[in-house]
Amino acid sequence: MTDILVHTEAGVMTLTFNRVERKNSITGAMYDALSDALESAAGDTDVRTVLIQGDPTIFSAGNDIGDFMKAAAAPAAPSEADSPAIRFLRTIAAFPKPVVASVCGPAVGIGTTLLFHCDLVYAGDNAAFSMPFVNLGLVPEAASSLLAPQMFGYHRAAEALLLGEPFMAEAALEVGLVNRVVPPTECNGIAQTQARKLAAKPLSALMETKRLMKLSQQAVVQERIGVESVSFGNAMRSPAAKEAFTAFMEKRKPDFSKV
Ligand code: COA
Repeated sequence: MTDILVHTEAGVMTLTFNRVERKNSITGAMYDALSDALESAAGDTDVRTVLIQGDPTIFSAGNDIGDFMKAAAAPAAPSEADSPAIRFLRTIAAFPKPVVASVCGPAVGIGTTLLFHCDLVYAGDNAAFSMPFVNLGLVPEAASSLLAPQMFGYHRAAEALLLGEPFMAEAALEVGLVNRVVPPTECNGIAQTQARKLAAKPLSALMETKRLMKLSQQAVVQERIGVESVSFGNAMRSPAAKEAFTAFMEKRKPDFSKV
């Protein structure tokens, strides 16, 4: 069974995280599957909108921590060309057609930051968003160091990115990260309905409107993704990150007293 399900119907390509037993944490192969699907959707006239969804209990626990540990143990920091996560982020940030997301349960790390690159976001009332990069000895990615302060205001972004504490669906609604909060069992269906509404509209007008809304930001966002990826690659190999990853695997609290 593949960890990313791809299904196209009524002009909507639906991408479903399907690794629930690992809380939909995202491996390199999953990032590549997402990037491949988005690249094919961009050029496929039968796809007019993309929907990204998880399960009613979990959106995504973020990057697979086992993969982080492997990258941290490598002799040199990975180059951007070797990073399926950065390929995915660059692809979704530049994706020309509308993207809708349906988020229920935890949305950790990239599970939250990928939402900055979606156009419409629907959340179950059980959604818990978090960007706990600092708690893992890491730094923001997906241009979230730029986009979170812009969207939330600096102080609320600092709370989310420096404290790294989860915030619930209603708070996400208040800061503008989500459009509507709905019952978790209805969320994927509501998001699908909205995606189909978009798919029924003239695609050229949709794409041009999205391009215009993002025009002043596109180059800046891509530049920030590159700058963050260098910091992230270095941070991943730091003693703090190694301690955080090991503690997660050993199901204990990290001890940062010596790092
Ligand atoms: N990478 C790899 N495995 C992960 C994972 C991740 N990001 N998140 C969860 N898992 C695994 C757990 O190790 C556990 O494996 P096990 O059954 O072998 O013990 C399994 O998925 C279930 O996770 P668990 O933590 O028991 O579920 P939970 O419902 O108690 O908590 C989360 C769910 C998402 C809150 C919690 O799993 C979590 O915080 N995950 C890590 C998130 C993270 O730090 N991601 C990186 C962000 S940059």
